[in-house]
Amino acid sequence: MTTDYDPIAEQYQRSKQQPWRIHIEAYSLMELIGDPTELSVIDMACGEGFYSRMLKQKGAAKVTGIDLSAEMVNLARQQETENNLGIEYIQGDARDSAGLNPCDLVVAAYLLNYARDREELQAMCTGIARCLKPGGRFVTINSSPLLNFATAPSYRKYDFETQVTGIWEEGAPITWIFYLEDGPLLIENYYLSAHTHEQEFRSAGFRRVNWHVPRLSPTGLAEYEDGFWSRFMEQPPVALIECIR
Ligand SMILES: C[S@@+](CC[C@H](N)C(=O)[O-])C[C@H]1O[C@@H](n2cnc3c(N)ncnc32)[C@H](O)[C@@H]1O
Repeated sequence: MTTDYDPIAEQYQRSKQQPWRIHIEAYSLMELIGDPTELSVIDMACGEGFYSRMLKQKGAAKVTGIDLSAEMVNLARQQETENNLGIEYIQGDARDSAGLNPCDLVVAAYLLNYARDREELQAMCTGIARCLKPGGRFVTINSSPLLNFATAPSYRKYDFETQVTGIWEEGAPITWIFYLEDGPLLIENYYLSAHTHEQEFRSAGFRRVNWHVPRLSPTGLAEYEDGFWSRFMEQPPVALIECIR
């Protein structure tokens, strides 16, 4: 795994305030998750806890956030100190979920797109399936495995862009450039096809897999001029997946 979030933790946190993140990403993910009331939840690759907090505030009984990056976990814990919601944050690896209590729901925003090959994806899917109760759900949003990023349009009007420099093939790096007030933030993740994802979900023990396109919030629609979101919605760079164990 080459992407280290420690040096970019604070910048990444600010990128979560971009309008598309709120009106499309968070809206779509939370709509797909539905009502988390009384559920035990693991937010895998929780980062600074953006979705951990949302899930707890929406009524989840127990939320545990897990992330590889010590700095991301620090930012999450700082916010827990400022406003205690009762969320536990652990520095850990999604590929090694031994010791975690099985839960009802695992959420992972932008984890699977860090798998550079089938083996890494398999390790993540197996780790996630292992910490779910039978019948439990896994809900995730990632760089879309359904989009050819080599021929994707510019998303500059939404304050980010994506770039592919090499050959478009399994494992190809995708660079996301977020335009923040103090300059661009570059993040690299990787393409693996929808077919590879399907196979690895099944081999990890998921029996149902549903793919979902992102949705635009009614507020996002109302607050921007007609057609503003069309390019994003017609060629969405993110995709949501729901798997049942
Ligand atoms: C793009 S950030 C997303 C953070 C958070 N889910 C959000 O949406 O704000 C990706 C996160 O995945 C974490 N990560 C990458 N590989 C991981 C792994 N194998 N296990 C746990 N976390 C991982 C990184 O440290 C980083 O915080």
